Amino acid sequence: MGKKWSIRAKFILVFLMTLLLLAGSFVASLNTLRTQVSRNEAAAVADQVISFRAWVARAGMVWVNKLSPDFPDFLAKRDDGSGREYYGKNPALATRELSLIANNAASRATFRVTSDEYRQADNAPDDFETRAIKAFKQNKDLKFTEGFEGQNYRYARPILVKKGCLKCHGDPKVAPKEVIEKYGDQKAFGYKVGQVRGIVSVNLPALGFQEVLQSLINPFSIGFIVLAFILNVFFIYRFVIRRLVNLTSDAEAIAEGKLETELEYTNPMKSNDELDHLYHAVNLLKRSMVITFKKLKGQK
Ligand code: HEC
Repeated sequence: MGKKWSIRAKFILVFLMTLLLLAGSFVASLNTLRTQVSRNEAAAVADQVISFRAWVARAGMVWVNKLSPDFPDFLAKRDDGSGREYYGKNPALATRELSLIANNAASRATFRVTSDEYRQADNAPDDFETRAIKAFKQNKDLKFTEGFEGQNYRYARPILVKKGCLKCHGDPKVAPKEVIEKYGDQKAFGYKVGQVRGIVSVNLPALGFQEVLQSLINPFSIGFIVLAFILNVFFIYRFVIRRLVNLTSDAEAIAEGKLETELEYTNPMKSNDELDHLYHAVNLLKRSMVITFKKLKGQK
């Protein structure tokens, strides 16, 4: 068995343990931070997609007079009377084409619109999206769903049926003939206002723990920890250890008979410091020794 530890060593151990516990609480909150940052970014993308869809939906369709070879799809075709042809793109189609362009150029976020009842084969939902659609159908108050999948953060928001959608997603009998011609009268009909028609699905590279940690561990945060350490060690050394060492050597001197030894402390009347109280008690001990000695001398 070795010697017991010094207060200084014990204190440093406690300080290091405190640091570890703080780091633990930090890591626990990192996860929340990481999710929150990704959620905000995904929500911003979803807002843009929904706005774009709303813009097309307000016009019913966007009409273009030339089809780009990359995007030959259209729902309807019109002649302006002078032989010029226009091709109509409905909201979902326009959004799908926007997502193809955006996803190709994307440095981070990709998105798409999907549904459990999809007309377009490319729009088929994956596992996360299928679960999200189910969740929105079960809970009308649910505003979004999210999750981490490997290196990715996934986010989904519901697209609800409004009155204007019924023309093409309500009763197939009243649907524009172009929709029936292109997709048949089975797919994605029979909806009612307020039902979940599909979702906007956003995919982001997830922030790694390492990235978040790196942004939190910087010269400033390390500097503050070092300062805290210096402050603590200074306090314990200057106000506790040094005074205990002094008191020890004073008490040893008194024990050796040097009764003139002066103890330096603040009177307990004016101090709440426990060490001052200890000094005072030792001082009382010294005084009673002096009195006892005098009595002994007097008896001789
Ligand atoms: C002019 C007809 C028309 C109207 C109006 C319309 N849609 Fe669609 N919708 C379609 C067609 C056609 C598709 C297939 C698009 C494609 O090829 O990507 C589609 C696809 C979708 C999809 C994608 C899933 C799939 O089926 O592939 C969603 C979600 C959707 N529509 C929601 C809505 C909502 C919500 C509204 C009302 C705000 C609406 N639609 C109004 C014709 C329409």
